Amino acid sequence: MSYIPSALSRRRFVEHLFRSPLVLAGTIAAQSPTSPPIESSGDALDVFDFAPSAQGKMSPAHWAYLMTGVDDNLTRDLNHDAFQLLQIRPRRFVDVEKIDTSVQIFGQRHPSPIVIDPVGSQRAFHSDGELATARAAHALGNQMILSTVTTTPLRDVAREYQRPLWYQLYASNDWGITKGLIQKAEEAGCPVLMVTVDTLCGGNRETVARAGRRGEAKCKTCHEPGLKGMMKEHPMYDGLDVSKFRGITDAVTWQSIDRIRELTRMKIVVKGVMASEDAQLCVEHGLDGIVVSNHGGRVTHVGLYMGGGRFVHSATRGVQVSNLSADDPYGRWWHTRWVGVRRIIH
Ligand SMILES: Cc1cc2nc3c(=O)[nH]c(=O)nc-3n(C[C@H](O)[C@H](O)[C@H](O)COP(=O)(O)O)c2cc1C
Repeated sequence: MSYIPSALSRRRFVEHLFRSPLVLAGTIAAQSPTSPPIESSGDALDVFDFAPSAQGKMSPAHWAYLMTGVDDNLTRDLNHDAFQLLQIRPRRFVDVEKIDTSVQIFGQRHPSPIVIDPVGSQRAFHSDGELATARAAHALGNQMILSTVTTTPLRDVAREYQRPLWYQLYASNDWGITKGLIQKAEEAGCPVLMVTVDTLCGGNRETVARAGRRGEAKCKTCHEPGLKGMMKEHPMYDGLDVSKFRGITDAVTWQSIDRIRELTRMKIVVKGVMASEDAQLCVEHGLDGIVVSNHGGRVTHVGLYMGGGRFVHSATRGVQVSNLSADDPYGRWWHTRWVGVRRIIH
């Protein structure tokens, strides 16, 4: 019998799960009391305080792109709920007068263990886009990972960040383009290449489709339709031969990973591993790190209703994850919620 339920029984299972007193208690406890919308960023008590103001300032289609999951958003919502149920196991009798939150990853010390995940098309959310993220990441000492579909040129983000950026790769159907993107990242001094392996093609995003239909006329005033228009908005593709290009993402196989490995001296981390068997193969193929992630439920319905901790445990079961990045004392990469923040825990 399959452990993974079918889509239909999954829904029933999830309904059952959410009637459970434990889950209900966790969900209710996690809800914050209603507060009026914030007037300035300094008023925000947590990141979700930004949401109403952000929605008010963005076009409905851009807001939908930011918030969407795949299909009916089921996995996105369950990621969120599962995160609320995570508990920290506290250790007492520790002198907390001076706290050191720094971590060493791939030989570099970072003041914060929080890493800024790759998030594409950030100028859709604010005109400063990736530059604003780079400024914040620099100020707070977070490692920033730049998406292939950045809307700001890599060199400009690198200048603003003032530290080595990690680069996230969407491998293309055309090897020439993939090679070109890797070379650009290497030339810009990125020490780490994060290859996203969970996005074989675009997801069916109903939330985006609905918002797009409503504001179609407005979208056309800013966006040139088709692939040509898309290329213009994403400067990583500048100067590359895109004549054979079919779409931003393509399936990544072990053959392509091995080719990438031969091509670059950057550390290679894969993002989107969901099974211990694949984690084991990552070790065998000499990868430097893995990121356990279901892409915030934005591309497929996978990794549901487990809660981050247990999920990582099953994804990495039997694999010495710390061996993947031998100098990383924290070992496990921890899947978190879908807002684009990643933590590394003991
Ligand atoms: C608006 C938005 C855009 C994203 N763009 C990318 C992207 O370009 N590349 C990528 O690998 N992941 C992208 N992601 C996924 C995030 O990197 C991350 O995987 C997701 O927020 C879930 O977090 P988790 O992986 O820690 O669970 C995007 C997420 C959001 C919300």
